[in-house]
Amino acid sequence: MFNLVLFGPPGSGKGTQSEQIVKTYQLQHIATGDLLRDEVSRQTALGVEAKKYMDQGMLVPDEVVIGMISSKIDEMPDARGFVFDGFPRTRTQAEALDKLLEFKNTQIHLVLSLEVPEEDLIARLVNRGITSGRSDDNQEVITARIKEYNLKTEPVARYYNEHGKLERIAGHHPVPETFKLLTKHINKYLLPIA
Ligand code: AP5
Repeated sequence: MFNLVLFGPPGSGKGTQSEQIVKTYQLQHIATGDLLRDEVSRQTALGVEAKKYMDQGMLVPDEVVIGMISSKIDEMPDARGFVFDGFPRTRTQAEALDKLLEFKNTQIHLVLSLEVPEEDLIARLVNRGITSGRSDDNQEVITARIKEYNLKTEPVARYYNEHGKLERIAGHHPVPETFKLLTKHINKYLLPIA
């Protein structure tokens, strides 16, 4: 099993690159943002709670997200591995993920952090907001999301760096070029299938 965390601020390309990575290496994609938006659209109790935070660009409480991830991993016992996109976002989430994977005799092997200048992030997300219908793709909430990232999520990079798992990748290039940079690191662990 191979487990990858695709890390980076809002708009850095985690979702875009994850799609390509899971196809190329036949891994399972777990994106907490997508899972939460699905709960919101189905108006589940979890979704109603999560929406309050998401609409303000704040992180959803750790216990909500960790429970959701745990059941998602359990749904796929035969997975070749996972790409975690948008998770973990706090040190508590990172430690919980380590415990969950240890319980399954596996671990996070690699963390690829996409680094993109803030003005590019804002431009990408404002542009996506024109068509995405996402309630958090407007200037005010984008600013709050980036602030939340800098405050609570960036420190998670330090956690993985301390464990020797972090690689920082320039993510301002066009999508295919960034993908090539990411695969250079993944190929050290896993051969492409597609
Ligand atoms: P989430 O859905 O995870 O949003 P995010 O991290 O803000 O990330 P985005 O999806 O906005 O960006 P991305 O990095 O995936 O970039 P993308 O590929 O889409 O989280 C949303 C909310 O849910 C959070 O604010 C929080 O409330 C909650 N939440 C989620 N997970 C949580 C957790 N673990 N704990 C607590 N709360 C949680 O690209 C963005 C745009 O840029 C696209 O239009 C794309 O086409 C374009 N683009 C991508 N790459 C390039 C490129 N190389 N060049 C030009 N354009 C590009």
